[in-house]
Amino acid sequence: MIFKGLNVNFAKLITKLYMSRSISTHILSLLFALLLVSSIAFAQDAAPAGGLSENADVIAKGEELFNGNCKQCHAVNEKVVGPALAKVYERRNLPWLINFIKYPQKTIESGDAYAVALYKQYNQYMPNHDFLKDDEIVSIISWVQAETKNPKKKGGDVPVDEENPKDQKSESSGLLVGVIVGLATLLLVVLSVLAMLGSVLTKYLAKEKALTEADRAILSQRFDFGKFVTSRGFVGIASFVFVALVLKIATEALITIGGQQGSAPDQPIPFSHKLHAGQYEIDCKYCHNTVEKSKHASIPGPYVCMNCHNAIKTTSPNMALIYEAVEKDEPIQWVRVHNLPDLAYFNHAQHVKVAGLDCTNCHGNIKEMEVVQQVSLLTMGWCIDCHRKTEVNAKGNAYYDNLSEMHSKYSKQPMKVENIGGLECSKCHY
Ligand code: HEC
Ligand code: HEC
Ligand code: HEC
Ligand code: HEC
Ligand code: HEC
Ligand code: HEC
Repeated sequence: MIFKGLNVNFAKLITKLYMSRSISTHILSLLFALLLVSSIAFAQDAAPAGGLSENADVIAKGEELFNGNCKQCHAVNEKVVGPALAKVYERRNLPWLINFIKYPQKTIESGDAYAVALYKQYNQYMPNHDFLKDDEIVSIISWVQAETKNPKKKGGDVPVDEENPKDQKSESSGLLVGVIVGLATLLLVVLSVLAMLGSVLTKYLAKEKALTEADRAILSQRFDFGKFVTSRGFVGIASFVFVALVLKIATEALITIGGQQGSAPDQPIPFSHKLHAGQYEIDCKYCHNTVEKSKHASIPGPYVCMNCHNAIKTTSPNMALIYEAVEKDEPIQWVRVHNLPDLAYFNHAQHVKVAGLDCTNCHGNIKEMEVVQQVSLLTMGWCIDCHRKTEVNAKGNAYYDNLSEMHSKYSKQPMKVENIGGLECSKCHY
């Protein structure tokens, strides 16, 4: 008998027993909360290939969508403009992929570690694809999965995994696993020590005859699950986890709403660039004919449409709208997509004619767009970033001869836009 010969104070022992039980209950609540938190964290991280399809129709649709929207920048087994997509469904889970493919730039700007690392590596934004539906993106990734497993073409089946940045999220979630496992073990150890103490105390006290009724009641108490679930500690922790979860979902949803980028307003006539500039290969300058001569790129009037549509699709209700505009001699009320604030000065001729930039640099691949959408941010940081990176196209431009000569005297770096004053406030602000 451990306590033999000691002057034992029963009341104190009973209190100790009571306390050790109540501490155990709190530890149990904590363990439960840990379990909840970790299951949420894993439900989001794991489940990689879940949701993908092996149905031949879905895969065929995915291939078509891939060829129409992604092929110019991606292949499955090799790096093109963007990374090789082989096994991307293992690197990222499906909800992440859907969100990233719809809003890559927003994902990067939200600080997502994986996306930021990719962007640092490729130094280019992938355009938004928010016109794709979730199930269409799922079909594209399903096709990627099928191609990863059974590439149609031989010889290209070495996925270039090392091209991709280390999966930072899984690194950080590895850390999270460590912390959670460590904490849980510690709590379990404390819990079992308390249980041992409790049982020794109970055994000892049970033999004592000098106990009161109330003391005996405490002694014979068993663990009551109902009471545990309604206890203050448990309810407190459970509601905290719930609120945190709701907040997380809400902020994630907020990140993907709002902002001008990606805006693609409805137009009075469903004019398709994909059809006209893509399929029929009509030159951008045929319609936006001032883009090399002036500040603004003109939007074509109904007469330009009439050059073709007095003969093509004449009975379509959409053409009736064009004919009406011509008759009334009024422009069609197109809704503006891009719109810089008045305080900023931007000139198309300077960028298209002088700098020799392609429209895609700033507008993305318009030829693939059913509805025009704003692909770039159009913020001051966006303009400046390009001016820091882009070399001046000085060849064949006598205006720059002196400047380039001066520049190469003082610097071995190529002459960038910033070197010719492209970061001066007054160049962009009146
Ligand atoms: C104009 C070029 C371009 C187009 C078009 C494009 N992407 Fe990308 N994509 C990129 C670049 C560049 C990156 C690297 C990330 C970054 O810098 O934004 C990327 C990254 C990705 C990633 C992440 C890859 C990884 O290894 O984690 C996925 C997935 C992806 N793209 C899918 C698509 C899909 C699907 C489409 C078509 C619906 C598409 N992309 C169209 C350029 C493009
Ligand atoms: C057949 C005529 C036609 C051709 C060819 C054409 N566009 Fe357009 N474009 C339009 C019309 C009409 C609008 C206004 C309606 C709309 O926004 O869809 C427009 C709108 C735009 C806008 C958005 C303007 C805004 O409101 O901010 C951009 C950017 C643009 N076009 C770029 C291009 C590029 C780049 C090409 C070549 C790849 C091209 N367009 C070829 C007729 C044309
Ligand atoms: C260096 C970036 C850049 C390039 C290259 C560029 N644009 Fe733009 N574009 C812009 C910006 C910025 C706006 C918004 C201008 C504003 O709101 O004043 C814009 C607006 C437009 C508009 C709406 C009308 C207007 O001028 O405001 C059309 C149409 C257009 N661009 C067509 C084109 C076409 C066609 C090309 C290629 C021949 C092209 N752009 C090349 C940046 C660019
Ligand atoms: C260079 C010739 C050409 C010009 C210019 C042109 N289109 Fe078209 N457009 C076509 C062709 C070709 C088709 C495809 C017809 C078909 O599907 O049979 C088409 C189809 C369309 C359609 C879809 C058919 C329908 O009935 O809805 C619309 C809408 C349309 N054009 C609007 C316009 C508008 C608006 C303009 C002026 C901004 C314009 N087009 C300028 C050649 C042109
Ligand atoms: C894709 C790259 C790119 C983007 C984006 C871009 N620019 Fe430029 N910009 C250039 C280049 C290249 C030149 C040099 C043209 C030349 O040779 O004069 C230039 C020149 C200029 C100049 C003349 C600078 C000078 O010193 O003569 C102004 C003003 C200007 N840009 C304004 C803007 C504004 C405003 C924006 C954003 C709305 C913008 N640019 C976005 C590439 C870009
Ligand atoms: C290459 C072009 C460019 C240069 C150089 C430039 N800006 Fe801007 N600035 C812009 C554009 C474009 C916007 C509009 C951005 C928007 O709407 O988000 C802007 C917006 C602003 C605004 C409005 C506040 C805001 O963020 O919307 C202020 C203030 C400003 N610029 C100050 C300056 C000062 C000061 C300098 C010189 C140190 C400077 N800018 C140089 C292009 C430029």
